[in-house]
Amino acid sequence: MALLPILRYPDPRLHTQAKPVEAVDAGVRRLVADMAETMYAAPGIGLAATQVNVHRRVLVLDVSEDKTRLMAFINPEIVWRAGECVGEEGCLSVPGIYETVQRSERVKVRALNPAGEPFEIEADGLLAVCLQHEIDHLDGKVFVEYLSRLKLARIKARLAKQARITA
Ligand code: NI
Repeated sequence: MALLPILRYPDPRLHTQAKPVEAVDAGVRRLVADMAETMYAAPGIGLAATQVNVHRRVLVLDVSEDKTRLMAFINPEIVWRAGECVGEEGCLSVPGIYETVQRSERVKVRALNPAGEPFEIEADGLLAVCLQHEIDHLDGKVFVEYLSRLKLARIKARLAKQARITA
């Protein structure tokens, strides 16, 4: 297993549309394992392949308190959504920034597991929000892009300042 470097917003590669995985093979399982290790080490509750510069539709997450429930989704698709909720989100690609985003309250997601078997999950709460946030990454969208242009400009300025300090 290996830790993978995480792209930082506003890296333009974060806007890449990820391609579907055609065959769930050993390479994909290794990607899942590396992404899980990277997510836990960060630490974070979700990570999309886009964030580690792999433009395939793969994401991992673990919203459990004790970090023992790793979930992997290959070719995830939201097939149903309901309600609305508003909550604060952060992102490993946008370090130190937490902003309020509106999402669907409940979603049903269809995907493949690392064995290549299809499954469906109905999610609410944090899991539903996290799934929507990570699937957005696979479509090239970062959560701060839901904010107003003014707020986004302020965030970009703050991130640029952080990058100068840490460079
Ligand atoms: Ni994110």
